[in-house]
This record gives sequence, C-alpha cells and structure tokens, in this order.
Amino acid sequence: MWLSRLSVSNCRIVADTGLELAQHANVLFGDNASGKSSLLEALAVLSRGRSFRTPRIADLIRRGASELTVSAKVENGIAGDSYPIGISKTSQDTRIRINHADVQQQAELSSHLPLTLIHPGSVELVTGSPALRRAFLDWIAFYRFADFNQAWRNYQRILRQRNACLRDPGQRYALPQWTEQLLALQPVLYRYRVQALQALQADLQISVALLEGAGMPHLQLGSGFPGSVDAEDVESLRHFFHDKREQELKQGFSLYGAHRADLHILLEGIPATRVASRGQLKLLAVSLLLAQSHAAAETDTKRGIIAIDDLASELDETNLQALYNTLRMTQQQLIITGTHPDPLRQRFADARLFHVKHGQASQQ
Ligand SMILES: Nc1ncnc2c1ncn2[C@@H]1O[C@H](COP(=O)(O)OP(=O)(O)OP(=O)(O)O)[C@@H](O)[C@H]1O
Ligand SMILES: [Mg+2]
Repeated sequence: MWLSRLSVSNCRIVADTGLELAQHANVLFGDNASGKSSLLEALAVLSRGRSFRTPRIADLIRRGASELTVSAKVENGIAGDSYPIGISKTSQDTRIRINHADVQQQAELSSHLPLTLIHPGSVELVTGSPALRRAFLDWIAFYRFADFNQAWRNYQRILRQRNACLRDPGQRYALPQWTEQLLALQPVLYRYRVQALQALQADLQISVALLEGAGMPHLQLGSGFPGSVDAEDVESLRHFFHDKREQELKQGFSLYGAHRADLHILLEGIPATRVASRGQLKLLAVSLLLAQSHAAAETDTKRGIIAIDDLASELDETNLQALYNTLRMTQQQLIITGTHPDPLRQRFADARLFHVKHGQASQQ
C-alpha cells in the first residue's frame, strides 16, 4: 500500500493542510519550527494512535482547538483502487473511520498503515529498555501474522488477572487457573517472535552498507525466562512456575514470561551498547528499523511507509551517503524531512518536494 493523500488539522502548529503524496519519495523541507515533525506526528497518530514525541494527545492538539484530525487516502496497489481512512482525537475520545465506516479498534486502523518512523530518538531502540525492542519485534508479528494481535491481547488480559491473584490474597484461589492459561500462551507468542526475528535478520541485508563499520549484528531472542528454560515446552514451564511461586507471591506480580522478553543485539558476541560508538548505535537502530519495515510483509510487493525525521542529524558524510543509497533501493513509500531541500533533491531525483511553512505544506 501507499498513501496518495495526507490531510492534517489541528496538530500542533498545523491548522489545516493537505499533501498529495508521490508513490515513492516525498521530501518535506522548511525552517525550524515550521511543522515538519508535527506532520510526521500526525501520521504516527493515524498509524499507531499516538505520537513518537509524547504519550499525551493533549500536547498534540493545536492550542485553542479541541480536536485533532488526520486522514489519508490508501492506495492498495491496484490502479484506481483506493479508500479513505481517518482518525479524530480529543483529549478524551477517539473516532476512527475506515472506508466510511466507524471502527472501534486502533489495531484495525493500524493494520492498514504499516508505518516505520525513524527520528533522532530512534537510537533508544538499541540503548533503551527491553519494552521498546519487544514492541519493535511485535510490530513485525502484528503485520505478518493475522492472529498475533488476538494472542497478544489475550496474553495481556491473562497477565492482568494473574497479577491480581499474586497481589491480592482474596483472589489467590484462582492463581493456578491463570498460571495455566499464562503458560499455555508462552509457546505461541515465542514462536511468533522467533518467526518475526528470522524475517528481521534476513531483511537486515538491505542495510548491509550501513552496517559496514559496526558489522552485521547477531540478534538473539530472550524468551522472558532464564536461558535454561524452554519457552516452547509447557510441561517444563509448569515446573518452572511451580518452583517460582513463592518468589512471585513475594513480589506480587508475574516475573517471567513473554511480557519480559528482550531482543539482544550483539556485535561479535558482545552487547552492541558496550562496544559500538554513538554514531554506530544510531546506524544500528536505523538499519533495524529499515529491516523492520521490509519484514512486515512476506512478499516484496506489499509495501509499507518509512518516515524519517531529521535524516542528517548525527551521521557523517559516508554514512549519510550509505543511507541515501539504501533508501533509494527500497520499494517502500518514503516521507523524509529536512531543513534544506537540496541534499535530498540531489539524491532522490523523482522525489516530490513540499515546502512547509507556518504549518502549511505546499508542493514545489
Ligand atoms: N499544541 C500546540 N499548538 C500549537 N503549536 C504548537 C503546539 N505544540 C507545539 N507547537 C509549536 O509547533 C511548532 C512545530 O514544530 P515542529 O517540531 O513541527 O517543527 P519542525 O519543522 O519539525 O522544526 P525542526 O526543524 O526544528 O525540527 C513549534 O514552534 C512548537 O512550539
Ligand atoms: Mg522537527
């Protein structure tokens, strides 16, 4: 899929603007504070329900306005076959529409818009908490496997119930039942993640030029259990939970399982954060994100969107060139921001240029 139009109203500085996007490369340029990142935040709201800069919707809604709206036209690859999607948010409520019908779940909207966002904070994918890497891997599983989302939602529900049993002596009687349900889902989620990881590792090949300095990372999935425990063997999980019962009761929440998984990023066997330079960590994060976008679909014809905010920051000239070259090869739709149009215009001859000024985007 790709987006042929993006319309945004009341998102930060953006009062009301629309962009007729090109199928491959789009460049948004403009001065500082003109609204480039705000437009990408709006796109993030459409794809994920929230921004990459703040968890609070109230921060995004333009001062003086009460509702932010983002809509887009999705082209599904077959000529002339397109449909509208949209989301409106107040600080309390969300309204979602897909092809003129009301929809309740953000996940349903998300499934129409596989957006990978790369921004200056993306390095945290490598340096930050395991939760970011779990979400990163689960994003692939969400797009690749139709049943993943339901399994993950069930898991969250069971986990909440089980934690209540661990915390509250009054509910303790139900602990065995919730433990049984929690362990039954471990192999399911583990397998989805193993498959997502295999796709990711294969698609890292696209970023091979970017990884020349740091080297190709080895990615390892931590299951959320100690290494000696087989997350696919329900019987041994049952023993494990039995052994850890006292410890979990003492803590009052579930200490082990898919919600504690991590993706270990190793360079020659050592965690990347311990050996790589700041620039290399950033390149690793960018490489992983580019691979993520490609890993979302099993076939190359099913495309996604890659949005890059502030492409040039922190990369030296050689790596910037490597990144441009990698981006030129991808089939994904690109939306790239920068303060100056020239470097981007030179690299992407076919790019559609938009000048962003006071929150208005005008095609050049
Ligand atoms: N809720 C809001 N309502 C109105 N304006 C806002 C709101 N939140 C932020 N702003 C303003 O919107 C502007 C948008 O900045 P944005 O980050 O989109 O700019 P940018 O073009 O990405 O700039 P840079 O090149 O510096 O990254 C800023 O001046 C900011 O003060
Ligand atoms: Mg910006």
